[in-house]
Amino acid sequence: MKAVILYDSRTSNGSTEAIIDSIGLSLAESGFYVEKAKCKAAADYSFVKDFDLVILGAPVYYFVVASQLLGSLIQGNLKTCLKRKKIALFLNCGSSEPVAALLYLPQLKMHLIRNKILVEKIFAPAALVDGSVDSFVEDLLFQYHKPPKSKVLSAKWTVEAQEWFQSMPAFMQGKFRTMAEEYAEQMGYQEITLAVLVEARDNLGGT
Ligand SMILES: Cc1cc2nc3c(=O)[nH]c(=O)nc-3n(C[C@H](O)[C@H](O)[C@H](O)COP(=O)(O)O)c2cc1C
Repeated sequence: MKAVILYDSRTSNGSTEAIIDSIGLSLAESGFYVEKAKCKAAADYSFVKDFDLVILGAPVYYFVVASQLLGSLIQGNLKTCLKRKKIALFLNCGSSEPVAALLYLPQLKMHLIRNKILVEKIFAPAALVDGSVDSFVEDLLFQYHKPPKSKVLSAKWTVEAQEWFQSMPAFMQGKFRTMAEEYAEQMGYQEITLAVLVEARDNLGGT
């Protein structure tokens, strides 16, 4: 199991790096191989494909999530390289949790709408002493190792989606059904609609 923590901070050896090192240590103790990498907006993030778990974390400065992480999602190829990756997010800031969840987390999440986010967390300055980093890692490990729902519980197809599926050539149907159901399961969708089928096709590179 390989995890990478992608982060940004203006402060060398500041609180964000301390949180990251603590997360990294706990994951390593749980059997992960862990790397950390400081983001540059223009960097090539192809290396992310080699990791099973990607953690994105950054502080907030002047109401904006640290710019190199945000820039990597907006201008760089990070968003593309995160396709189908298991992700966790955290922010480190002085604002209260509700304020940060409302104002700052969406700045990251709006670029990750096609990812399954296992855990998200707002850390306060006291994160390293109040146990919240430990509980973040616990939640993350639980979500990461949680077995996928059984086929019996898998997503239901809407009538529209079924009709569209049945209009496909018969020889493609078996492979497509499996692909769509696995995609819905991975994304946590309860229902397979036409929109989900289109999204799966776009994300998985079908025609
Ligand atoms: C210049 C500056 C601006 C900040 N702006 C905000 C802000 O707008 N909202 C917020 O919640 N916290 C803000 N903070 C608090 C930081 O997010 C917090 O101190 C964080 O732990 C800094 O991480 P670092 O040690 O990695 O730099 C600011 C801190 C600094 C130094």
